[in-house]
Amino acid sequence: MGTGVSDSAQTPFQILGEEGIRNLVNTFYDLMDTLPEAAGIRAMHARDLAPVKIKLAEYLTGWMGGPPLYAQKYGTVCMTTPHEPYHIGPAERDQWLLCMNKALEQTGASEELVEMLKVPMFRIADAVRNKQGPSSAATNPNIIAAG
Ligand code: HEM
Repeated sequence: MGTGVSDSAQTPFQILGEEGIRNLVNTFYDLMDTLPEAAGIRAMHARDLAPVKIKLAEYLTGWMGGPPLYAQKYGTVCMTTPHEPYHIGPAERDQWLLCMNKALEQTGASEELVEMLKVPMFRIADAVRNKQGPSSAATNPNIIAAG
């Protein structure tokens, strides 16, 4: 039993380990691949999800307090640039978070880990967001009228 907060505090990386992170990420993309609610963001991704599975696992390993595998390979932890080509509004962010929350659940993440990740996961997903709302095709009445 720990006697305080600091002596028992663990990083998400210490809780999950590299294999746990890989398992979480594989489950995350498998959910994105199958959940009807995530079809919108699935369509933005390449047909083969294997490369992005590796990249996100490398990224999260560093982000969760482990070795900075992604930064070592690509020299940056900025997630804005690789997402620039995609329309990521609140709906897309929430689809991403839905997959992540379900992946945590399916991989048996503890309540403690879920609590620990809740706010930072939202923040990073919202930081990747590059639009305020739905794509203009859905909100611009002229475009709809013209269609
Ligand atoms: C908020 C909603 C998000 C959407 C819709 C989204 C979508 C995408 C898409 C479409 C790609 C390209 C993948 C491909 O070509 O197959 C990508 C790459 C990537 N995403 Fe996201 N993403 C989101 C959030 C995030 C977050 C929060 C993180 C990190 C915690 C992240 C990490 C990555 C990484 C590491 C890559 C690979 C980048 C590279 O090429 O080096 N994404 N994402």
